[in-house]
Order: sequence, then C-alpha cells, then structure tokens
Amino acid sequence: MINEWDNEIGSVLFSEEDIRKMVEKVGKQLSRDYAGRNPLLVVVLKGSMIFAADLMRSLTIHCEVDFMIVSSYAGKESTGIINVVQDLSTDIAGRDVIIVEDILDSGKTLHKLKALLESREPSSVKICTLLDKPTGRKADISADYVGGIVGDEFIVGYGLDYDQKYRNLPYIGVMRNS
Ligand code: IMP
Ligand code: MG
Repeated sequence: MINEWDNEIGSVLFSEEDIRKMVEKVGKQLSRDYAGRNPLLVVVLKGSMIFAADLMRSLTIHCEVDFMIVSSYAGKESTGIINVVQDLSTDIAGRDVIIVEDILDSGKTLHKLKALLESREPSSVKICTLLDKPTGRKADISADYVGGIVGDEFIVGYGLDYDQKYRNLPYIGVMRNS
C-alpha cells in the first residue's frame, strides 16, 4: 500500500492527465469569452478549491477570485432560501461573475446561489463546472462551461469528498463499494 486509500478506490474514472485536459479545455474557452473583462471567479467551497486553483492558472486573462460556503435548507426548496455560511468579500455589482463548481448534480443549491448572486446586479453570472452529472438534475439549471460528463456513480478525488475525505486524491475515482 502506497496511499491509505488505495484499497478503497475501485477504479479511476479520470486520471491526472484526463483532468489536466478538461481544465485546459475550459480554461481556453473562458480566456476567449472573457478577454478584457476581468471576471470574478466565485469558488463554492470546499469541493471546488482544487479545480479553481488549476483553472485560474490555465487562464491567460486577468481575473479575480472570491469564496463562498453555502448550504440549502432541507425541505424548503420551493422557498428558494439558501443558507450562506460564508459570503463573498467582493461587491459584485457590475461584475462578470463565474461560479466555479466541482460537480453539478441535482443543481438545487446552484440554482438558488445563482438567483442570489443575480439579485446583487452583476453584469453577468455564468456557471463553470468541472463535471456534470445530468442524470441527477432536479432543478432547472445547466452549466455554461463543462469539463466532462459523468454517470450517476458516486465519485471522489480532486476536491470531491466522501464524508469529507478523499479530496486530496490527485485523480477522480469511484469508491469500491458504491
Ligand atoms: P447539487 O447539484 O445541489 O445536488 O450538489 C452538488 C454538490 O454535491 C457538489 O458540489 C458535491 O459537493 C456533491 N456531489 C454530488 N455528486 C457527488 C459525487 O459523485 N461525489 C462527491 N460529491 C458529490
Ligand atoms: Mg461535497
């Protein structure tokens, strides 16, 4: 055993090289679309931090970064209430905002987060996600920039956790017993 998790990961879904290519692809798209606009990357913690760190370094344009921690109120989806655990420190009025997510699954949280940010009168809000899990979608939302598509398996690594662990895996894998 080299890593403590080696016996817990059943298979590798995206290798470090696969991830590098996905990040590079999205980085190129953003650099082209946001040239000259100094967008603000809104990183939704914790899962997106590793993707965001690599994504920023793949951009060839000026950008800024800020962080948010949010959670949804269980059972109150229709009210559109979102629990902001930690808010941005940046005024986003008039800014081009790019929400950076690790994975878009049901979309419930992101749907509300997008609405919240739009209420602050930015000039635009787009969503950039490393991975999209379309089969899990429950809210009417889609990402504007997507690194890759996944099925409905539960994956970990490269920021994605299971019970807060596995975020530090450099690749994305499927848990052995999932
Ligand atoms: P949703 O789109 O509101 O359902 O929430 C997406 C969040 O759920 C992501 O930011 C992840 O934290 C988590 N998530 C969804 N699918 C997975 C997965 O396969 N592995 C790890 N976390 C996941
Ligand atoms: Mg998570």
